[in-house]
Amino acid sequence: MKITRDTKVFITGCGGMLGKAVYERFSPHCQVLATDIDVNEQWLEYGDVADFQKISEKALKFEPDLIINLAALTDLEYCEKNPEITWKTNALGAENMALISKRLDAAHIYISTAGVFDGQKEYYNDFDQPKPMSIYAKSKYYGEVIIEKMLDNYFIFRAGWMMGGGCDKDKKFINKIFKQIQDGKKELFVVEDKLGTPTYTVNFAESMFAIMQTELFGLYNMVCEGSCSRYDVAVELIRLLGLEKKIRINIVDSDYFKDEYSAPRPHSEKLQNLKLSSRGINYMKDWKECLADYVESIRPHLKAES
Ligand SMILES: NC(=O)c1ccc[n+]([C@@H]2O[C@H](COP(=O)([O-])OP(=O)(O)OC[C@H]3O[C@@H](n4cnc5c(N)ncnc54)[C@H](OP(=O)(O)O)[C@@H]3O)[C@@H](O)[C@H]2O)c1
Repeated sequence: MKITRDTKVFITGCGGMLGKAVYERFSPHCQVLATDIDVNEQWLEYGDVADFQKISEKALKFEPDLIINLAALTDLEYCEKNPEITWKTNALGAENMALISKRLDAAHIYISTAGVFDGQKEYYNDFDQPKPMSIYAKSKYYGEVIIEKMLDNYFIFRAGWMMGGGCDKDKKFINKIFKQIQDGKKELFVVEDKLGTPTYTVNFAESMFAIMQTELFGLYNMVCEGSCSRYDVAVELIRLLGLEKKIRINIVDSDYFKDEYSAPRPHSEKLQNLKLSSRGINYMKDWKECLADYVESIRPHLKAES
């Protein structure tokens, strides 16, 4: 499907960290109707993926050629403590949006996670068998399976450690570290026993935009090139901010955070973009290059004295 001015794209969960980049990539080229339960931008409308009646009315009226479902509950601890709403949002929501795509014969994009694996080995390619551990991962994996069963013209893109969205929307690692720096912390505690592949929202959205037009439908791992530990990411962030001499990073193991981060997490969430590379459509860049780009957008939020 070539994206033109007439192409209609319906996006759910577009108020989050990835949604911002996806909206900015798609909206200059086509007609976008962006929705979320959190209407935090003037270009967003209310839309709840768990409410089949209302979300299908909205989508059927718009008649999209493509549905991009970004809606999810993404806080692992919240998901573990609130399984019912997690299943309704992440799993039933995915099924609802797939049903709507089927009715409209619209192409479909669903975002899954590196967290569907159990982390027993270091690297996972697109053909490895998922074995989700947490409620979040199980509900996201259900979304993968149901979409593969129901649809033909779908893309499932598995993302890794998401970075992006800026200080207001970034709920993940970079912003958690950045907030501590903003608060004047001179000492950070970071784990080295969690491994993964960072995934920059801007690069991810660019890649989605290009790949969906190839119509090479299917499931793809789609993460930045290069892999690392959480500690490596923190070191690089501090270096890019020029704070190596002012902030000390202490290595700890996951036990240190066992109360704060109580949901089960795989030891390794490193993905390989085997299918993207083999098909010559791997547009994902090196994570350090991406982090450098992201840091330039958040740097102005740092107080001069830090
Ligand atoms: N963040 C990561 O590290 C990561 C990694 C791999 C894959 N993913 C996947 O990437 C996709 C985008 O996530 P993200 O990183 O942009 O996370 P995000 O910032 O949490 O965005 C998800 C958005 O969905 C909204 N939402 C929650 N329940 C909804 C519902 N019932 N109907 C409609 N919208 C709803 C959220 O609103 P609230 O903020 O009010 O909950 C939020 O605005 C998700 O499918 C996620 O599972 C994320």
